[in-house]
Amino acid sequence: MTVHIGAKPGDIAETVLMPGDPLRAKWVAETFLSDVRQVNDVRGMLGFTGTWHGHAVSVQGSGMGMPSLSIYANELIREYGATTLVRIGSCGGMQPHVALRDVILAMTASSVTTPSSTILRELTYAPCADFGLLRAAAAKADALDVPSHVGGIYSSDTFYDDRPDLNDQMVRHGVLAVEMEAAELYTLAARYGARALAVLTVSDHLQTGESLSSADRESSFSDMIEIALTAAFA
Ligand code: HPA
Repeated sequence: MTVHIGAKPGDIAETVLMPGDPLRAKWVAETFLSDVRQVNDVRGMLGFTGTWHGHAVSVQGSGMGMPSLSIYANELIREYGATTLVRIGSCGGMQPHVALRDVILAMTASSVTTPSSTILRELTYAPCADFGLLRAAAAKADALDVPSHVGGIYSSDTFYDDRPDLNDQMVRHGVLAVEMEAAELYTLAARYGARALAVLTVSDHLQTGESLSSADRESSFSDMIEIALTAAFA
């Protein structure tokens, strides 16, 4: 047990999918895994362990935002020995060629700050995905014929954003989408020798104002999870 995860040692697999929403963790585990058991309910941040095609997998909610993700990623890697962490989540599209339901494979994640900024100090560190995971995820997206984009995203500290000028600069510099967790996940994975990737579905679009209905979310999220699981065990 750790401060925020009640699982016993050995109850968490080396490969962990991390959705922000704990109820999505439950849905993913029940829909995609076999032999599922719940391994965490501390603070309602549900975690599950099961198998996928014979491979042990855990699905642990991260909560929203990098401070919350940092708590779970730290404990998963440093206390439970997780070595592959794949964020699965939603994002807001930022480019005209990025459409609702498209899958974004985050090669890099820019940010204004992350929880790691305090130790990185003046360094503008460039958090990046594990290349093997990224390559395998891109291949699976192509095999499924899922429209996907590989490139940079922005990990924001705010959902309700009041810096249109900053968004303009990111659009200008090719940032594909915005979410709130990947930059810190990539930084922690690098620090502790783990592999990480964020596989995201575009659920809303900052330029057009469109967003997915909840029924559409579920069906398009299935592709993202197939991609994440395939990449993790490629
Ligand atoms: N902003 C931040 N995070 C998000 C968004 C957004 O527009 N959409 C999905 N996650």
